[in-house]
Amino acid sequence: MRIGVLTSGGDAPGMNAAIRAVVRQADALGHEVWGIHRGYQGMLEGDMDPLPSRSCANILQRGGTMLHTARCAAFRDPLRRTEAASKLKEAGIEALVIIGGDGSFRAAETFQREHGVACAGIPGTIDNDLPGTERTLGFDTALNTAVEAIDRIRDTASSHGRLFLVEVMGRSSGMLAVHTAIACGAEAVLYPESPEDSYEALVSGLNASWMRGKRSSIVVVAEGDTVGRAMAVGERLKRDHALDLRVVVLGHVQRGGSPSALDRIWGSRWGADAVLRLDRGESGFYLGEVAGALVAQPLSQILESQPVPPGDLGRLVAILAR
Ligand code: F6P
Repeated sequence: MRIGVLTSGGDAPGMNAAIRAVVRQADALGHEVWGIHRGYQGMLEGDMDPLPSRSCANILQRGGTMLHTARCAAFRDPLRRTEAASKLKEAGIEALVIIGGDGSFRAAETFQREHGVACAGIPGTIDNDLPGTERTLGFDTALNTAVEAIDRIRDTASSHGRLFLVEVMGRSSGMLAVHTAIACGAEAVLYPESPEDSYEALVSGLNASWMRGKRSSIVVVAEGDTVGRAMAVGERLKRDHALDLRVVVLGHVQRGGSPSALDRIWGSRWGADAVLRLDRGESGFYLGEVAGALVAQPLSQILESQPVPPGDLGRLVAILAR
């Protein structure tokens, strides 16, 4: 069998580990792998070539994706998908491994339904916002990057007795923000799934901190929070309470860097498992981790389910900051 592999959407540390595992597991089973460059965009353009085992040397420890990636609006057009299917046919590719997030999996689900190409999904996004898996590739690395950055900010925050608002990524999910806040001992976190009126809760939480004798605070703000982005929240706090605060937007720093051991291990396990399943004739699934175990679920689950919100972990931040 000839298997195509692509990375799609935002790059995430650990994608290279997954590509390498796809190639090496396929090699072990006597299958051939082709790399499709720049995600679905490359598939539309026929930008694909063989990935022999040696082409994956020394990529395990690198961030980003050796296959490059893209967000491809054109793939939403059924006519363009038909063109993409012909490109795969010309190249003799019968199955696909798609490493990406929910948008990439939705596209895979439609593509398999329309064109019968066997698709396997590997969750790759720093946002950790997919249903049916407690982990996505890149989340652990991005979390550690954010925590390391905030530890540094903490030094200057406490030296000056200042309030810092630190914005982290995550799109419409608060997973990255809440986990970052717990791991760096933040005084508060603003995140989209929060059950409270976040702004009012933030103001009363900061007042309570001050009364307890805290002179500096870190507030982690999820970029998708409903109150607004960190810059807007900062402006509002300055206007309402004349606070001496600073805003830091961590941005794409969180997407880069060498993957953590966990992201390398899960990238490797999922890459190999995707090929084993395709080899057994399975298709239309994506992989995940639940309670430490590797799981597979139908790609259609992406259309039907919602990601698990951070829930009680958000409330824990305020308790631990007392
Ligand atoms: O989905 C990953 C992610 O990094 C989100 O956290 C963020 O909102 C988005 O991608 C940024 O996308 P881009 O790199 O296209 O600006």
